[in-house]
Amino acid sequence: MTSATILVTGGAGYIGSHTCVALIEAGYTPVVYDNLCNSSAESLARVERITGKRPAFVQADIRDVARLDAVFAQHKIDAVIHFAGLKAVGESVEKPLMYYDNNVGGTVVLLQVMQRAKVNNLIFSSSATVYGDPASVPIREDFPLSATNPYGRSKLMIEEILGDLYRAEPHWRIARLRYFNPVGAHESGLIGEDPRGIPNNLMPFITQVAVGRLQKLRVFGGDWPTVDGSGVRDYIHVMDLAEGHVAALKHLLAKEGMFTVNLGTGQGYSVLQMVQAFGKSIGRDLPYEIVARRPGDIAECWADPSAARDLLGWSAKRGLDTICADAWRWQQGNPEGYGA
Ligand code: NAD
Ligand code: WQD
Repeated sequence: MTSATILVTGGAGYIGSHTCVALIEAGYTPVVYDNLCNSSAESLARVERITGKRPAFVQADIRDVARLDAVFAQHKIDAVIHFAGLKAVGESVEKPLMYYDNNVGGTVVLLQVMQRAKVNNLIFSSSATVYGDPASVPIREDFPLSATNPYGRSKLMIEEILGDLYRAEPHWRIARLRYFNPVGAHESGLIGEDPRGIPNNLMPFITQVAVGRLQKLRVFGGDWPTVDGSGVRDYIHVMDLAEGHVAALKHLLAKEGMFTVNLGTGQGYSVLQMVQAFGKSIGRDLPYEIVARRPGDIAECWADPSAARDLLGWSAKRGLDTICADAWRWQQGNPEGYGA
């Protein structure tokens, strides 16, 4: 067992809270740093119920140099997993400066503080959005990169900043992890995705329809060139994703260098297949209607996950049945999320 201490920015959020569970279970000590702009500290109380350990928590902003400096002075941090950021694509189009300030500016501040503290091990949350509209699927890491909105551009910029930093200071160890579509919840049903307002993403929308908070799903487009006309994505169980971070961390702490890998399953499902699988899981059909395409969407997106398998010895284990069952357990047990 290891006792390395890991600073988890954005650790109270959806992926961060699940990763805290995986870190604790793997013997690491997470220290969570989060301003709670899109989450609740209740998630960390739930992490404690699952693991028996409550992560140390600092409620502060990654752009707050003094607070960050203080965390590095107070804790002997071995590595940073950097989840903190804003992630709503539509909002990023409305408020680009807010996204660049928070995501890009915040990351630069974090890197400067790490540099001063001589902590040079970083795992960064990137996204399949950096592939833009891919020419083909499955998507490999060496595909061309592009972005179609400020959110995606902020991820691309950060990837490039990290590349520049590594070239200038090759003693840094950096993992750029490109997530596909994270879904599901911890099997306990105690932690899960808790979006504010009406969900933008498919899976929380489906579960909120199922629990009666929303009336029916709108399927964005029935005329995509896909298996059934609806969009196809690579939905990865959030605990698989969390375990992918532990695998990346082990690799990073053992071996010098920078690496960039997809974290996906390699399997695509359409919106209609997701609706059907979820309906089967809960034993009733979900109401939906097919409407116009959502601007900015793409037809298909799924990963070639072999680089992560070969480099990290990690691959996603949980299938669609588990995803649906776990998402439903969380939604049913917490119909109003953490805010209830
Ligand atoms: P989330 O919103 O649940 O978690 C992000 C956390 O960061 C929140 O707890 C929020 O309060 C915190 N945060 C935001 N700005 C901050 C700041 N300036 N200072 C301190 N804390 C701040 O989102 P998530 O789904 O858990 O995503 C985590 C990361 O993964 C994000 O960087 C996101 O862009 C990336 N990502 C997410 C997805 C997805 O679909 N969920 C896909 C690819 C990449
Ligand atoms: C999935 C599919 C929709 C909602 C987004 C970001 C991406 C990444 C993950 C962070 C698509 C369809 C959705 C609905 C629908 N995030 N859909 N009705 O768009 O693949 O990716 O989240 O990095 O950057 O763009 O995910 O869950 O929004 O959509 O029909 O109400 O479901 O059109 O085909 P997406 P999503």
